[in-house]
Amino acid sequence: MDKRVTIIDHPLIQHKLSIMRDKNTGSKDFRELLEEIAMLMAYEVTRNFQLEEVEIETPICLTKAKMLTGKKVAIVPILRAGLGMVDGMLKLIPAAKVGHIGLYRDPETLKPVEYYCKLPSDISERDIILVDPMLATGGSASDGIHLLKEKGAKNIKLMCLIAAPEGIEAVLNDHPDVEIYVAAVDEYLNDHGYIVPGLGDAGDRIFGTK
Ligand code: PRP
Ligand code: URA
Repeated sequence: MDKRVTIIDHPLIQHKLSIMRDKNTGSKDFRELLEEIAMLMAYEVTRNFQLEEVEIETPICLTKAKMLTGKKVAIVPILRAGLGMVDGMLKLIPAAKVGHIGLYRDPETLKPVEYYCKLPSDISERDIILVDPMLATGGSASDGIHLLKEKGAKNIKLMCLIAAPEGIEAVLNDHPDVEIYVAAVDEYLNDHGYIVPGLGDAGDRIFGTK
């Protein structure tokens, strides 16, 4: 696998993901599991964040300690399904700001269509974690990254639950500077652009719309 791709194969994540894949898992459990996995993945995605040394006073003495004091983070979900990953991440990175990018995939062309974009005004100064559970053709993630770059974003990581090999290749070709974090890389895309074996339509399963 390309070194810009990290597969987070922790047993807790894999166990929870298997329950999500099961077609008999309902929306309530699906949402909760997605939130939990997003929180666990956030731990790994933030692993290389730079710490600053600050002086603090413990009950015993003055000391130098490490903190993420100057770190500015933005979590940007791709609507709708990316919303299901935001709360879990905010539990670990509560100071992060949240931007939103609205994209849906046209069912005929499989091309992403943009309908919303609202980002923190200081997006160019932030480390950005773009989140979407599914990386299928890669069109939505790639367009999302283009939008972020147009607004001045420089440091972007993409965090997805399940990726198809085709999606990973497309994003890395379009954006060689972006690191991708996934819990699983599945086999292939079917004729309708769905990831196999995948988990179906993530947005519909989160929001109970089908
Ligand atoms: C899904 C998913 C991604 C996109 C992935 O969203 O959440 O955004 O498809 O497919 P791609 O890699 O081929 O672009 P969808 O378009 O179904 O919208 P939704 O989240 O509103 O359901
Ligand atoms: N979007 C989804 O929600 N699931 C897929 O398998 C592909 C795109």
